[in-house]
Amino acid sequence: MIVTTKQLFQHAYGKYAIGAYNINNLEQCMGLFQGNLASKAPFIIQISKGARSYTHKKMLESMLKTADEIFPDSVFAIHLDHGDEATCMDCIKSGIYSSVMIDASHAPLKENIAITKRVVDAGHAKGLVVEAELGLLKGVEEHVKADEHVFTDPAEAEQFIKESGCDSLACAIGTSHGAFKFKGEQKLRFDILTDIQKRMPGFPLVMHGSSSVPEDEVRRINHFGGAMAGAKGVDENCFLDAAKLGVTKINIDTDGRLVWTRVHREYFCLYPENFDLRPVGKVFMAEYAKFIASKNKKLGSAGQIDSAREFIKKNG
Ligand code: G3H
Ligand code: 13P
Ligand code: ZN
Repeated sequence: MIVTTKQLFQHAYGKYAIGAYNINNLEQCMGLFQGNLASKAPFIIQISKGARSYTHKKMLESMLKTADEIFPDSVFAIHLDHGDEATCMDCIKSGIYSSVMIDASHAPLKENIAITKRVVDAGHAKGLVVEAELGLLKGVEEHVKADEHVFTDPAEAEQFIKESGCDSLACAIGTSHGAFKFKGEQKLRFDILTDIQKRMPGFPLVMHGSSSVPEDEVRRINHFGGAMAGAKGVDENCFLDAAKLGVTKINIDTDGRLVWTRVHREYFCLYPENFDLRPVGKVFMAEYAKFIASKNKKLGSAGQIDSAREFIKKNG
C-alpha cells in the first residue's frame, strides 16, 4: 500500500521513527521490501536525483509500482530525496511519488522559503507532501556542498515552517552524509530538536546522514581489499531518543552501500572462479533484508505495520 509520509508520521510521532532507505536498483528494492515485511515495519523508499539517472527514472518508477503488487502487505511511501525545484515538479507530475523533498538549504532563508512554498503549493494540489531543509550538513548532498555544519536555528525553523507550509523539516544537528561522519566522539545537537519541538509541537522532523556505518561491515570490507579506515557513523541507540523529540524519519543510504560492498568483495574473493551475477545478487538481497530488519528494531518501526495500516485506513 503506497501512503504519504504525512500519514506515516502521524502514526509514528513521538513514539518511533520511520526508516527512509535509498535505493538504486532491483536487488536493493527486493531486499528492502523483504526486510521490512519480515520485521513488519512501515517504511519510506527514497529515490535521489542520482538514482533517477543511474538507469532511467521510469525504470525505477515501474519497479516500485510492481513491488507494490508483488508485496501487497507492505505499507510504504515513495519519496524524492534532496530534490531541486525542477526534479520535485517532475516527480509531482509522475503520479508514483507520494512525497518529495525540496532541498534549497543552500539558499538564504527568504529564498529557501519562496522555493519551498512553490513546491508545497504544487505538491499539495496533487495530494503529495513536502519535506524541506533548513541548515547545512557538512559535506556533499546532491547539489549542495558545505565545508562545515550550519546548525538549524530553532527560531528560523519556526518561521520557515509557518511561512513555507512544508509538511516536515530536515534539521542540521551534526550528522553528515557518507561513511566518515565523526573524527572523535559523536556530537549531535539534540538541544536543537528539543527547542524546535517546544516551538512546533507535533511537527515532524527529519534526520539526514544517519547511517551507523557498522564497525563489522567496515572491518570485513577492509579485510577483503577495501580502504575505509576511519569510517564512523551515528550511534543507532540514539534513534528512539530522537523520535521522542519529534524525529519521525531517519535517512539511511550509506549503510546499504556498505552491505553491498561487503557482500560483493567477500563473495568474489571467496569464490574467485565465479563470474555469475545471480548467486552474489541473491546473497546481497538476503543480507540487505537482514540489515533492514535489524535497523527497524533500532528505529522502533519493527512490528508497527498492522497498527499503521489500520490507523491510515481509519484516518485517511
Ligand atoms: O544525500 C545523499 C543520498 O545518500 C543520496 O546519494 O545522490 O549518491 O544517490 P546519491
Ligand atoms: P547516510 O549517508 O548517512 O546514509 O545519509 C543518507 C541521507 O541522508 C539521504 O538523504
Ligand atoms: Zn540526506
